[in-house]
Amino acid sequence: MADIQNGDSCSSSPLELFERVTAQGEKVRSLKAGKASTEEIDAAVKLLLSLKVTYKTATGQDYKAGSPPVDFSPVSNNGPITTQDEDFVDPWTVQTSNAKGVDYDKLIVRFGSSKIDKELINRIERVTGKTPHHFLRRGIFFSHRDMNQILDAYENKKPFYLYTGRGPSSEAMHVGHLIPFIFTKWLQEIFNVPLVIQLTDDEKYLWKDLTIERAYEYAIENAKDIIACGFDINKTFIFSDLDYLGMSSGYYKNVVKVQKHVTFNQVKGIFGFTDSDCIGKISFPAIQAAPSFSSSFPQIFKDKKDIQCLIPCAIDQDPYFRMTRDVAPRIGYLKPALLHSVFFPALQGAQTKMSASDPNTSIFLTDTPKQIKTKINKHAFSGGKDTIEEHRKYGGNCEVDVSYMYLTFFLEDDDKLEQMKQAYTSGALLTGELKKVLIETLQPLIAAHQQRRKQITDEMVKQFMTPRKLAFDF
Ligand code: TYM
Repeated sequence: MADIQNGDSCSSSPLELFERVTAQGEKVRSLKAGKASTEEIDAAVKLLLSLKVTYKTATGQDYKAGSPPVDFSPVSNNGPITTQDEDFVDPWTVQTSNAKGVDYDKLIVRFGSSKIDKELINRIERVTGKTPHHFLRRGIFFSHRDMNQILDAYENKKPFYLYTGRGPSSEAMHVGHLIPFIFTKWLQEIFNVPLVIQLTDDEKYLWKDLTIERAYEYAIENAKDIIACGFDINKTFIFSDLDYLGMSSGYYKNVVKVQKHVTFNQVKGIFGFTDSDCIGKISFPAIQAAPSFSSSFPQIFKDKKDIQCLIPCAIDQDPYFRMTRDVAPRIGYLKPALLHSVFFPALQGAQTKMSASDPNTSIFLTDTPKQIKTKINKHAFSGGKDTIEEHRKYGGNCEVDVSYMYLTFFLEDDDKLEQMKQAYTSGALLTGELKKVLIETLQPLIAAHQQRRKQITDEMVKQFMTPRKLAFDF
């Protein structure tokens, strides 16, 4: 559990404050159970009491465990969260003025989540007996909510399931979109659990200039890229909202339950909706929330309502799940746990957004080896110096260099990555040479993805997308 800084409480929403008090309560309990020193326990209790006072001041309500604030005010004036007025993160926009990217440590504090620290990574290794994925070792998955609960469940042989998703806004996905899917595949393998993948074609129809038919076509195309990541057909259910909502005997019931327990004020606060947004947008968050509850999938979990859910995603999706976690206890369900990743930057640098409409901002899963080479050589923002002489003398800056950032995601060899860092920082390695390493890393990776995608038939997509029992007995 991350330490909670008292000073930040005043800028938090009541919901975040509620979650902080809850987290601090849990911390006090675990310190007591672990027989921590009296000083440590006293300090934690003191912080808990002061958070409760802050909560009461902000909400006018006494903190009550399991009962989040009934009606809370906006997270910030225009809804979504900014850190120090620089970074802006919501499900539709991730923006920063810092060349190093979003300040993720600050985001953890503002979102009230917990840092994935060494202790948690060691626990994952201990519990599963597997070497932690390099996304964990390198802080790419950097934040979580309740991951310790999932590990407790796993240790006690209690089942849980994975849930992730994609909003099919275009036919081609970029490499950034792969991050949560690569990680989810690893989680599915090490924990051997069911996985549900939501394709929010309804969301993209509501938000983008797309027909329903086109959004559905994109969902099917994107499903092929997702399947090409290597998911096990016997353990994975992929669904399009447009299809599944009308088919399932459990899903829509949960959507309505969520809708009944969240007010317009609350979604305005969380997502920044305004009075002129269509009602489809306003009610959509309930549709992304409901797959967090096992009773949305009776064909997989039968009548079990208490199978806990773990959601891997990038941090931009957290607002949906803050709302979900707020509602869950009020409708008799467990809160989903989360694992959050950082954002994969655009080629032009961490301040720019990757955009499907500008192919030069990213590497797409459809790019040829030549396109990959040209894009990296022409567009990847360099942290190197202007001239070779200066570069040799002063060295490059890995913190802002996009080629280096990309290698941290895709070059699996820790030693080689460290070598690159040392050589680039010292000036021994030039920008062109670093780019070459990235090109040679990405070309085979994307080509292999394209090869796997080619093998995926319409029949396979149909099988993955048919509501059915998976290879687990509930
Ligand atoms: P979408 O399609 O915007 O993104 C799909 C997944 O990719 C993550 N992501 C990124 N990760 C790293 N770097 C990036 N540059 C990057 N861009 C996107 C997103 O966080 C997401 O995990 N509404 C969702 C679809 C959805 C979903 C879910 C996602 C429905 N249910 C449950 C995660 C978990 C969306 O439009 O995602």
